[in-house]
Amino acid sequence: MSFKEELQKKTEEIEEILKSYLPREEGFQKTVLEAMNYSVLAGGKRLRPMLMQETYRMFGGTGKIVEPFMAAMEMIHTYSLVHDDLPAMDNDEYRRGKKTTHAVYGEAMGILAGDALLNFAFETAAKALEKQPEAHTARALGILARKGGIYGMIGGQTVDVESEGQPLSREKLDFIYRLKTSALIESSMTIGAVLAGAGEEEIRCIEQVAGDVGLAFQIQDDILDVTSTLEVLGKPIHSDDKNQKTTYVTLEGLDKAKRDVEEISARALKNLSSLKFRNVFLEELIRMLITREK
Ligand code: IPE
Ligand code: IPE
Ligand code: MG
Ligand code: MG
Ligand code: MG
Repeated sequence: MSFKEELQKKTEEIEEILKSYLPREEGFQKTVLEAMNYSVLAGGKRLRPMLMQETYRMFGGTGKIVEPFMAAMEMIHTYSLVHDDLPAMDNDEYRRGKKTTHAVYGEAMGILAGDALLNFAFETAAKALEKQPEAHTARALGILARKGGIYGMIGGQTVDVESEGQPLSREKLDFIYRLKTSALIESSMTIGAVLAGAGEEEIRCIEQVAGDVGLAFQIQDDILDVTSTLEVLGKPIHSDDKNQKTTYVTLEGLDKAKRDVEEISARALKNLSSLKFRNVFLEELIRMLITREK
């Protein structure tokens, strides 16, 4: 099987896992359930659950305990996008090739669907702890909470919106990227490692690798915001310019941004190869992200 075929097959498998954890659209609160499912099932690369599962496999994980965490991670990521697109934040109309959740269901329901996905993520991950009440599972739940929170994604988004229209130092930009984007990728990969029983030093190494993967990923996202199209990307281009964001591209220029995506990814791959475990697919996935077009 080629890498592309394998990627497609794995994405479809993740899609099935995700579906199995989504709520049924019934009851008086049906609208918010529909909005949740609309935003999650709109598509998306499913990169975070994939990184989690592949890291889990790399460290010899074979069971199903990772699956509720994969679903929970994609719910948290999707909620972050639903809120990121709101009029009060980036105010964008398209996401994953479809109208954004607030554009379809209204702003109030967009806020509630995001809130609902966040809570439901923890409800879902808690099921794993119930099934396997062990220290590894509890630790994974803690990572999920922390990396999505004030010391992770929310912290990064806070500085991101506060910095609109303002000059930004490279130091502060790095802080924003490490938090708003790397944190959820670090969460994904370290949870995979923790659940598979990796050692402390290995977990630290994976966190560092994931931090770089996330940084390269956000720089590429900034590049695509100026070089891609709505059709290919599935979300509006020039969103950063519209919101007067300082990005890696505005700060360092397009050429350096492209070079740095390669360099940072190469550093991630080098650190990954220092481990005594290997996952060739995971390596290829990280390599593929360098040239991703969406
Ligand atoms: C978009 O993430 C938000 C960023 C951190 C740049 P993705 O590019 O992974 O979005 P989906 O999940 O594929 O839609
Ligand atoms: C947002 O960064 C990262 C999140 C935590 C949602 P962007 O605002 O650049 O993400 P896109 O371009 O809208 O996907
Ligand atoms: Mg944003
Ligand atoms: Mg945005
Ligand atoms: Mg962007």
